[in-house]
Amino acid sequence: MKTRKPPSSTRHRRSPWLLLLMAALASASLACSGTPSEPAAPTIVGDHEDVHSFARPQEARVRHVALDLDVLFDKKILQGSATLAIERASDATELILDTRDLAIEAALASSDGESFQPTDFSLGPADPILGTPLRIALRPDTSHVRVRYATRPGATGLQWLAPAQTAGKKLPFLYSQSQAIHARSWIPLQDSPGIRVTYSATLHTPGNLFAVMSARMATPDLAPAERTGAYTFEMPQAIPPYLIAIAVGDLVFRPMSPRTGVYAEPSMAERAAREFEDTEAMMQAVERLYGPYRWERYDLLVLPPSFPFGGMENPRLTFVTPTVIAGDKSLVSLIAHELAHSWSGNLVSNATWRDFWLNEGFTTYLEFRIQELVYSRRRAEMEAALELGELERGLARLPDADEILHINLAGRDPDEGATDVPYLKGALFLRRLEEAVGREKFDRFLRAYFDHFAFQSITTGDFLDYLQANLLAGEPEAARSISLDEWINRPGLPADTPRPQSDALEQVKAQAKSWLAGETPAGDLPADDWSTQEWLHFLRSLTDGMDAARMRELDQAFRLTGSTNAEILNDWLLLSLRHGYQPADARLAEFLTTVGRRKFLRPLYTELAKTPEGKQRALAIYRRARPGYHSVSSTTIDQILGYTPD
Ligand code: BES
Ligand code: ZN
Repeated sequence: MKTRKPPSSTRHRRSPWLLLLMAALASASLACSGTPSEPAAPTIVGDHEDVHSFARPQEARVRHVALDLDVLFDKKILQGSATLAIERASDATELILDTRDLAIEAALASSDGESFQPTDFSLGPADPILGTPLRIALRPDTSHVRVRYATRPGATGLQWLAPAQTAGKKLPFLYSQSQAIHARSWIPLQDSPGIRVTYSATLHTPGNLFAVMSARMATPDLAPAERTGAYTFEMPQAIPPYLIAIAVGDLVFRPMSPRTGVYAEPSMAERAAREFEDTEAMMQAVERLYGPYRWERYDLLVLPPSFPFGGMENPRLTFVTPTVIAGDKSLVSLIAHELAHSWSGNLVSNATWRDFWLNEGFTTYLEFRIQELVYSRRRAEMEAALELGELERGLARLPDADEILHINLAGRDPDEGATDVPYLKGALFLRRLEEAVGREKFDRFLRAYFDHFAFQSITTGDFLDYLQANLLAGEPEAARSISLDEWINRPGLPADTPRPQSDALEQVKAQAKSWLAGETPAGDLPADDWSTQEWLHFLRSLTDGMDAARMRELDQAFRLTGSTNAEILNDWLLLSLRHGYQPADARLAEFLTTVGRRKFLRPLYTELAKTPEGKQRALAIYRRARPGYHSVSSTTIDQILGYTPD
């Protein structure tokens, strides 16, 4: 039987007892959390239940996590301890943590954080999505709990790379990806975004490797000869557990401005620092709009190509795929996006995964605003229009329930909620509000929103209450014209959805049609001047009348099979599959065996799987590629191909 929480009606009624506890929590001294550089804010804003965590924070709540871990590449495990400082109700008898597939060696309890005594613990039954609750007995005076544990080689939140999977090919690499509920696979903690913790860590690694974390680093830059294999970190600001991150490898640092820089393998560092040199300008753009950057430094970590995402907004240290390094800065909207999370997501976080659109919709809205300020309105609108096209194609495939911003994810893996809907529909909702009240007022509102909820985790309801009180109450006309219920609770796009327009993209589409109709030879297309976005729109406009011969015509004119721009190549390979253009076959196999970014893998394998021969080819490639993929990607591709690992 699965372990289930008590029904929410009993857990989340605000009893007088709970109100008292909340007051006590808010005023309790945070002796356990070091010296935060920001004032501690109460974490509970509204009542919310997180169906993706076993934790019962009303009874005992983790406030600080202190890690001491050995990074053992030969065994592919992290081994050591997590010491948790807790705030608890005086009558609480246990602390419930989330874990997934951890080897728990011991649990210890302490009343002062110094001396620890063994205490009882038990692991509940494993839930296929949520993992396993770890119950630790609390004595009346317990203030700290220590768990001695090790991860397993298959931890869903870690990827251990062999040297061959790195740029340098000589040394191994480790990185984490904790969002949404994978932190529990490498740290026993309360893995809910509604629970914010400060953290500190000591890591022991092989002496020739460098370790980084989403935290203040004691040694932010060490030449290879100075590496000791012992690294310490301190994160003084309270963050949700999904933002705890680690990477270990042959990393060097290149500064870009006094507060920004790039970590990468040596052979990637220069190229990355040049590609991302506008990061400081982006930071200043957001600061002008929405207030100061609150995390001291903003560095980027360029990962090996198996990283399953484009980017991950780990605080102070965004993780990025190397596939955005196109050589011409054309894909840096991804940096704008991850940077924007420093406000929307990391400063103000979704309290549960149903509220994910608060993270991604706000961030996508901010991303377009940054692109407009740092580059141009033309570019921002082009990117937005391209994304709207993706959203519309995505909506055609999604069930109604998944088109809702305030999505119900009970019983599902929260990663399933990460579709275009929270990103783009969320961003368009904010744009709708902006257009209704005017940009100036909306910017002021957003800035106040970030200040008001800074370092807190909030629900959709919290946002709507704030919106009502601080924007719509003073704008009756706007309030009347927008159906919040339709935007938040209904599928599809409301009739009043703003539609970003791009003349440049319209032109490219017309040119594509003209080439298809045989009116313009490929050589006469003005493609020399096309940006990446215009190329993507061109390729996406080739919906009818294509065949292998026409593919060859384009390839001869523009060498698309040899493109080193991962986005363009991805679209080209997709078209090649659709139209049986075989000269791209080898490139496809190469791409699928070197790149692990799920956004690219998913459509390519899906297209391959549409025919029996294609599926055979897909399986042959996949057998070779799969050991190099992150579990996020292999889980998805397993499903597409009906592949059962042995
Ligand atoms: N936070 C997300 C990545 C994520 C979402 C990881 C959900 C796990 C679960 C990140 O900010 C993101 O949105 N990345 C995008 C790129 C962005 C430019 C749209 C990605 O990786 O594709
Ligand atoms: Zn994001």
